[in-house]
Amino acid sequence: MRNPQAIVSIGLVSLAALILLVGWFAADPADVEPVAAEQAFDRGLAEAYVKAGCWQCHSVETLRDQLNAEFGAGAGGHLPVGPDLSGIALQGHPDWHVAHFWDPAAVVAGSQMPAQRQLFEGEQLNARGRDVIKFLMTLDAPSPLRAPWPVGNHEAQAGDAGRGKTLFRQHCAGCHGDAGNGDGPAARWFVATRPPAKLAQGEAYRISGDARQAVFDTLSNGLPGTGMPSFFRLSVQDRADLTEYTVKLLGK
Ligand code: HEC
Ligand code: HEC
Repeated sequence: MRNPQAIVSIGLVSLAALILLVGWFAADPADVEPVAAEQAFDRGLAEAYVKAGCWQCHSVETLRDQLNAEFGAGAGGHLPVGPDLSGIALQGHPDWHVAHFWDPAAVVAGSQMPAQRQLFEGEQLNARGRDVIKFLMTLDAPSPLRAPWPVGNHEAQAGDAGRGKTLFRQHCAGCHGDAGNGDGPAARWFVATRPPAKLAQGEAYRISGDARQAVFDTLSNGLPGTGMPSFFRLSVQDRADLTEYTVKLLGK
């Protein structure tokens, strides 16, 4: 078809048809998809989670009824020592979970979660460990207790690099290393994904333009699909201070 006018008019007719069609579907509320997807339940994987004893400290709000019905009252959540795990698949990468099971405090500053070494054979995750992580990665239905990443953009503010350095040792060194050379104790678990960036060597793939804003966004939102977590739980001031130090470290 060479005639541009014909192409334009066919385009307009299709557009009008599309608008009518969309309007027609949208008009019937029964056809509208529910906003929150229902949480799928895999009994085999859930059993690994229950047998590993995670329920003693955690709850899974989106599967509470199924877990209690299948494995007895309490399996859906006992003492709320750790956070509710609903929606965790929207945040952590499987590699993050391996690092966390091996040494929780290396990836979460001051973590009180005990290391889960029973899920390892030597230094390899065992079958149950793999199933527990598969289970966590099925928990993809958002819950009121957990907002999915990314959490949005925030205006980066000037921070205090000195204070940022102390915070870096606490929150980042487990992966990025004390000096930012990518050699923290948890770094070796990031095998399916890229390892923690060697920040002190200027390694950053997504920092262009306003470096301070880009680092601040990275800290706030994490990098979904990679091993880099979100630090949205830290205050804006903490993130600003960390950003100031990180930008210096990167030499930007
Ligand atoms: C003795 C209590 C305890 C047990 C048992 C326990 N955890 Fe935890 N867990 C915690 C605490 C406390 C935290 C918060 C600190 C942290 O993030 O490391 C936590 C955090 C987590 C997080 C991060 C959640 C988030 O929102 O960032 C995940 C995922 C997790 N635990 C999974 C598990 C799994 C899976 C098991 C079983 C293999 C387990 N935990 C066993 C106490 C526990
Ligand atoms: C659980 C491990 C872990 C922790 C803790 C961690 N990071 Fe990362 N970080 C990573 C990984 C893995 C990457 C590489 C992501 C990729 O490129 O795939 C990364 C990448 C980065 C990048 C580079 C992003 C880019 O532009 O490519 C910056 C900047 C960064 N981290 C800063 C920090 C700061 C600051 C902290 C502490 C507040 C921190 N990270 C804590 C694992 C971690």
